Amino acid sequence: MELPPQVKNPVPIAIRGAGYYLPDRVLTNADLEKMVETSDEWITERTGIKERRVADPAMSTSDMAICAAKRALANANMQPGEIDMIICATITPDMQFPSTACLIQKGIDARGAFAFDVSAACTGFIYALANAYTFIASDYVKNVLVIGAEKMSSITDYTDRNTCVLFGDGAGAVVLSRTDNPGHGIVDFILESDGRNALWLQVPAGGSRIPASTSSIGERMHYISMEGREVFKFAVTAMKRTTVRIAERNNLKAEDITWLIPHQANKRIIDAAAAALGLDASHIHFNIQKYGNMSAASTAVGLAEVILEKKPKAGDHLLLVAFGAGMTWGSLLIRW
Ligand code: UT7
Repeated sequence: MELPPQVKNPVPIAIRGAGYYLPDRVLTNADLEKMVETSDEWITERTGIKERRVADPAMSTSDMAICAAKRALANANMQPGEIDMIICATITPDMQFPSTACLIQKGIDARGAFAFDVSAACTGFIYALANAYTFIASDYVKNVLVIGAEKMSSITDYTDRNTCVLFGDGAGAVVLSRTDNPGHGIVDFILESDGRNALWLQVPAGGSRIPASTSSIGERMHYISMEGREVFKFAVTAMKRTTVRIAERNNLKAEDITWLIPHQANKRIIDAAAAALGLDASHIHFNIQKYGNMSAASTAVGLAEVILEKKPKAGDHLLLVAFGAGMTWGSLLIRW
């Protein structure tokens, strides 16, 4: 297989502010025990998840994203009018169109921006950050708001124990701008996909192939359907490969990685990726136990948490790695 492309002569583009939002309602493993045939022990051992957040029925993906975006702007000490471009990574848009990014633009009143969504499932936030980087590096725009937001509860079948224990809702956001600090900011990324196994993870109906109908609803085709074991095997290989490759090609050893910020699908997958690099668990940012798998929002919330709560220092390395439906996978390296 050909080697993926590499960022050459990186332009210094850094994160100016971050924010995240999580719904208040907590769905615990004990709650799920009352809904499907499962146990706290099974969920904890097989996934590492103890609880997840679930948005109120009236709250949409863009509502959560707007909260996260406002917090990121406040943290960056910026006004919405300074944003030139908004990218939202999501697979749970408010509706098929308009884009969730345009709804966020309205919600924060960023009139000078243009806005669009990125669909790369759980890898979406990394794809969106890479898009922001290339738009800023080409001098097309100055300030970009990047959001990963998901209302996974809206596509989760709470009668299916194979999937309903895994997912949660949330949103994370960052503002990216050029800096005058060479060698800092986003220094490299790897984006990969393989459509041959595109149907391992899907919502079968509601698109142009199977539009919504009484039979698609009756057959529960508007919910996530997943080949769990196949996805697991694929994820371990892809996560190990992208983690090791981006570290090696940037001459970084395990001890140079301050925070690994992985997609939070399964603790066993994260542990395998970290072990491939020889990284100690104390350098992995985990939120899976509290929030479950929030798809594109997992790395977005993770990055915002690390920035706001772990306060990285100049020279620290933050490494985002993710995989998801598509299949897609990738990594993105930030030097603080
Ligand atoms: O962001 C990407 C999204 N998806 C993923 O990353 C998912 C990747 N896959 C996984 O994380 C794992 O495959 C799962 C957590 C989904 C499942 O763990 P596993 O160790 O691969 O279990 P399994 O699929 O091999 O199933 C083992 C057993 C099965 O019973 P039988 O067939 O052996 O009798 C399942 O029916 O566990 C059963 N099972 C459950 N039991 C209790 C499946 N779900 C549950 C459950 N509670 N919630």
